[in-house]
Amino acid sequence: MKNKYQNQIVTNLVFILIAFLFISMVSAQHEVSLKVSKVAVKMKNPYPADQYSFERGRHSYQIDCVRCHGKSGNGDGTNSEKVQQVVSDLGSDAIQKQTDGELFWKISEARRPMPLTEITDDQRWDIVNFIRAFKKK
Ligand code: HEC
Repeated sequence: MKNKYQNQIVTNLVFILIAFLFISMVSAQHEVSLKVSKVAVKMKNPYPADQYSFERGRHSYQIDCVRCHGKSGNGDGTNSEKVQQVVSDLGSDAIQKQTDGELFWKISEARRPMPLTEITDDQRWDIVNFIRAFKKK
């Protein structure tokens, strides 16, 4: 009798331990991803928002972004109707209030349907500078 109870207790303990390990793994992962984005928010744009960066950004934007986000960034590009989601208005407060780092990170992560383009980090920072021009006055 005693043995049977002991076995049950051991089984229960093992089960609790596994559940505990699983939960802590999941929450550790969550913390890691939060940390990444906090770092991203604070990333500094290595390029001053000057005319040169702006022109480079405009060039990349024409190639990779204009077809959805449109000439004035309001989301009316020629391909905007082919994607299911509403294409974000890049001049909106929701976008413009984000830090350069945040926008850089989002362009890099490129949540679907945004394409994972082969643009370099430098080009992404220039695009961020360019996007600032869409801010509504
Ligand atoms: C195939 C169409 C498409 C292309 C090309 C595209 N986007 Fe987007 N973009 C979208 C859609 C749709 C959303 C809104 C849906 C979402 O955020 O998941 C969006 C959202 C965004 C956001 C807002 C993210 C947020 O929610 O804060 C930014 C910034 C952005 N795009 C920048 C860019 C830049 C820069 C490029 C070029 C490198 C680009 N996009 C290319 C379709 C596109």
